[in-house]
This record gives sequence, structure tokens and C-alpha cells, in this order.
Amino acid sequence: MKENKYIEVLKNIESLIEGEMDLIAVMSTISCELYHAFDHFNWVGFYRRIDEKTLKVGPYQGTHGCLTIDIEKGVCGKCAKEGKIQIENDVSSISHHIACSNDTKSEMVVPIKDSENNIRAVLDIDSIVINSFDEVDEIYLKKICKIVSGRYT
Ligand code: SME
Repeated sequence: MKENKYIEVLKNIESLIEGEMDLIAVMSTISCELYHAFDHFNWVGFYRRIDEKTLKVGPYQGTHGCLTIDIEKGVCGKCAKEGKIQIENDVSSISHHIACSNDTKSEMVVPIKDSENNIRAVLDIDSIVINSFDEVDEIYLKKICKIVSGRYT
């Protein structure tokens, strides 16, 4: 069951990064744990907001991702601009999706905010299965992103 898997992944992440404040170490560990936990995920990683209008790729697992995303573009850009979770369960039906792999069928992006509510990064997950994402993913990916948020000063 998906929920049990997330509970296990969350527990693993918490124990692996306990006391670790380095964002690259934390993001790398989260990408690795999530990517290997779910067979249908073909890309799991972070884009970091490096200025008002630019996202730059961070630690990830999967096939190559675009290095830079304009905040006006893509599902990631929309997430960073609006500060809201994006669930696109059929990426072929939306015009703003940036395709990094033809295998990707659905995508979910979660914003990561610092203590002053500024968007500092997003967690991007791509899936090879249509309709992959629901409220269970939302609950657990939000918890995982909160772990990252707490590392921003
Ligand atoms: N699909 C994303 C681009 C990043 S790749 O999926 C890794 C988007 O539309 O923003």
C-alpha cells in the first residue's frame, strides 16, 4: 500500500538526516530514498530558486533534468510562482509542462518555503504512470518538504 511505503520512507529519511543541516546532503538523501521506494517514479529531485525568476536544478535521481527553469514556465515554475502544490495527472493535457522525458505521464511539484514564507525550492516528482498522484502523496510529500523547509535559515 502506498501509504505504508511513505511511512517507511519518511522514517528512513528522518533517521538518515537527523541533525544534518546541509541542504545538499538533505536533498540528495530525500531524492534517493523517494526515487528508490516507488518503481513508477522516473525523476525525483529539487529545483532551487536562485533569484526572483530562476529555478536551478539541485540534487536529483533519474534521467537528466533541465538545468534552468524560468519561473514563468513549466509545472515547477508555476509551483514556485504561486507557492502551491501542483498535481498534473496527465501531463499531455497541459501546455505549460516542460517534458524532460517522453516517459513521464504525470507530475507533482511541492513548494518549499523558509520561515518567512519565501519560496526557496520545489520538490519535483515525475511518474511513468498516468494519474499517479493523490492526497496520500500530498500528505507525505508535504511532510518531507517541511523537513527541508526547517533547514533554511
Ligand atoms: N516537467 C518539469 C520540468 C522539470 S523535469 O520534469 C525534471 C516542469 O514542467 O516544470
